[in-house]
Amino acid sequence: MRHYLIASFFALVSLGSAQAEDAFRDKAKGLFEPIPKTAPALPDNPSTPEKLLLGKMLYFEPRLSDHRDLACSTCHNLSMGGVDGGVLSGGHNAQLAGREVQTVLNAVFNKSQYWDGRATDLKDQVVNSVMANPKAMLKTRGGPMAINPAELAATKQHEIDQLKAVPQYVEAFKKAFPGEADPLVYDNIGRAIALFEATLITPDAPFDRWLTGDDAALDETQKAGLKLFVEKGCATCHNGVNIGGASYAKFGVVANPGPEHLPSEDAGRYGVTKDNADRYAFKVPSLRNVELTAPYFHTGSTFDLRKAVTVMAEAQLGQKLSDDETTKIVAFLKSLTGKQPEIVLPILPPRDR
Ligand code: HEC
Ligand code: HEC
Repeated sequence: MRHYLIASFFALVSLGSAQAEDAFRDKAKGLFEPIPKTAPALPDNPSTPEKLLLGKMLYFEPRLSDHRDLACSTCHNLSMGGVDGGVLSGGHNAQLAGREVQTVLNAVFNKSQYWDGRATDLKDQVVNSVMANPKAMLKTRGGPMAINPAELAATKQHEIDQLKAVPQYVEAFKKAFPGEADPLVYDNIGRAIALFEATLITPDAPFDRWLTGDDAALDETQKAGLKLFVEKGCATCHNGVNIGGASYAKFGVVANPGPEHLPSEDAGRYGVTKDNADRYAFKVPSLRNVELTAPYFHTGSTFDLRKAVTVMAEAQLGQKLSDDETTKIVAFLKSLTGKQPEIVLPILPPRDR
């Protein structure tokens, strides 16, 4: 009898905690979504094996840059979480880019592209920003931060000429865009690269496995960190499928983080909208794979994820975290690292002239 009572007591307790875990999961499901296991379809850009292969080739293609020394993969290295691991990437002629590289991993799920959201989607990012003539972009978008002039500083025509000098590319564009009279055009470079980028997703993170029902996928420290992340208010900005990427927010809502992290000359989204409300607002970055994408912030001002978390708590929420709270939140953030894309390197064809 006594044994029976004790056993049922423990059954009740564990039932209670399982129910609490389920209730907490339901709450989390209202805030976050797992990364889907397969690449999302892009509007007006159906996937074919030919287009996908072409997009992958172009992603690794240094001949898209003026001096044949920069490919997308130079700054968005897929062996390094989709970034280059440095403070402000060195671009064309080793000019420093104005802002820290953001990862291409899961970028397809962002509401817009870039720290200031000036590109609407992945194709727009390629066609209108990255490789377009920097001077023309300055004119059309206005403001010194409207483009990143250090990014592939080639004119559109130069890039088209480079590709037309490679007979296998001429063929590859015909196959990827069948029925088009002149398929080797800029828009199609953007379509192909965007399609490849949409495959660069990282499903199956421990957090996603927990969210879809596997209690054991997170350890107790990570679960405590997730609770803090929600209860302290981090998830008011970092939410959705990318744990970010869905909105803009001022950096320094409660307290200015200081010029080291937020130099006054880069007013963020204000440069795009000219709306005073957007001064020092930036796209809330995705925290997916954040343990792989140091340094942090648009300035690349710290390599220390603990530091980034404490700066956030103070600047965005006016809170000082204890060491223990920081440890738990960082442990949770590390559960956001998913299965990295496995890429078979494409063979880039030679020129014939
Ligand atoms: C010289 C380094 C460099 C090269 C080369 C480069 N990028 Fe970037 N990329 C950056 C930087 C820096 C940013 C952030 C700039 C900003 O927000 O103002 C960025 C941002 C992006 C973003 C936005 C991600 C997000 O979360 O908003 C995407 C997507 C992207 N690049 C794709 C590409 C593609 C595709 C190519 C090749 C066609 C490319 N990049 C070439 C440095 C580079
Ligand atoms: C009011 C919205 C908001 C809240 C609340 C918020 N963040 Fe952020 N977070 C941002 C923005 C915006 C940035 C980009 C700042 C920049 O560099 O300009 C950012 C950047 C970060 C970064 C750096 C990511 C990178 O790739 O550079 C981390 C890590 C982070 N936040 C974690 C947290 C944590 C943990 C909390 C809670 C303690 C939190 N954030 C609360 C909006 C917010």
